[in-house]
Amino acid sequence: MSEAFTMPDETQAQEATSDEALSAFEKAHAEADGDVDPRTIPQKLDGRPPIGEEIAYPEYPEADHETWRLLVSRQMEQLPGRACEAYLRGQDVLKLEADRIPDLANLSRRLQEATGWTVANVPGLIHEKDFFELLSERIFPSTNYVRGREELDYTPAPDCFHDIFGHMPMLTQPDFADFYQLFGQAALNGEGAIRPKLEAFHWFTVEFGLIKEHGEHRIFGAGIVSSNEEVTHALSDAVTTQPFDPDVLVDTEYEVYHLQDTLFVMDSFEQLLDGFRRWTHQHGLLD
Ligand SMILES: [Fe+2]
Repeated sequence: MSEAFTMPDETQAQEATSDEALSAFEKAHAEADGDVDPRTIPQKLDGRPPIGEEIAYPEYPEADHETWRLLVSRQMEQLPGRACEAYLRGQDVLKLEADRIPDLANLSRRLQEATGWTVANVPGLIHEKDFFELLSERIFPSTNYVRGREELDYTPAPDCFHDIFGHMPMLTQPDFADFYQLFGQAALNGEGAIRPKLEAFHWFTVEFGLIKEHGEHRIFGAGIVSSNEEVTHALSDAVTTQPFDPDVLVDTEYEVYHLQDTLFVMDSFEQLLDGFRRWTHQHGLLD
C-alpha cells in the first residue's frame, strides 16, 4: 500500500515550517523517531530509467515466481464482485500473468496500445520530482522485484506486485489514464501548502479510490486491490464513505501505515478527471 513519492528529502522536511506543510508520510516518519525502513526513503533517479523495450527481464529465482503466484491467487479469490469493471478488464488488456512475474517490457507495449502509457523500470521509491515528471510524460515508474515471503500481507515500500497488479490495470481506462498524466503535470507545479493536498488527492483516488457501479461500491485504488486485508475492509461497515468532492478530500486526514477508515466514492472516472481538472485550475496549478 505504499506510494512512489513523498518525503522529498530530509532537508525539505526540516524546512517545512508548519505541520500543515508536512505530508502524511513526513508526519508518520517524524513520529517514527528515527526508526524508518530505508526502503521508504525515496531515491533520486540517476539519469533516465530504462523505458519499454529497454527494460531487461531479470532472472528471477523460482521462489519469486512462487511468491507472485501466491499473491495473485490470494487476491483473485477476493476481487471478482469487489473490484470495478475497468480494473478487471484492465487485467485482461494487459494479459496479466498469474503464474510468473510479468515482463515490464510486454506490459509497457500493451499499455501503449491501450492508452499511450509506457512503463519505466525504477529501483524503488523515487524522489517525487522524478515521479511527477514521468507521470507527466505518461510513463509509469515500476519496480521489478517482488516482496519477500515474510511480507505477503504488507510491505511498506513498493514492489512489483503493488506496481503491476495494483496500478497498471487502471492505466488502461481512458479517463483514469488522462487523469493520472494530468496529476503529474499539476504536481510539478505544486509548492508549499498545496503539496500535502496533492498527496491526499493521490491517496484517496489512485491508491484508495472507490467507485459506484450498479448502485454498489467497487474498489479501484491500487493500495486496496493489492492488499489482502484492505479488499474486504474497504467495503465493510468499518469504513466511512463520502462522495467524491475535491475540496473535502484534500483536507481529509489519513494514516499511511494503517487500514483506512475514510474513503471517497466516485460516480465515474469522468467525474474524477473533470473534478481534478477543475480543482487544479482553481488553485492555479494548470490552465
Ligand atoms: Fe502505489
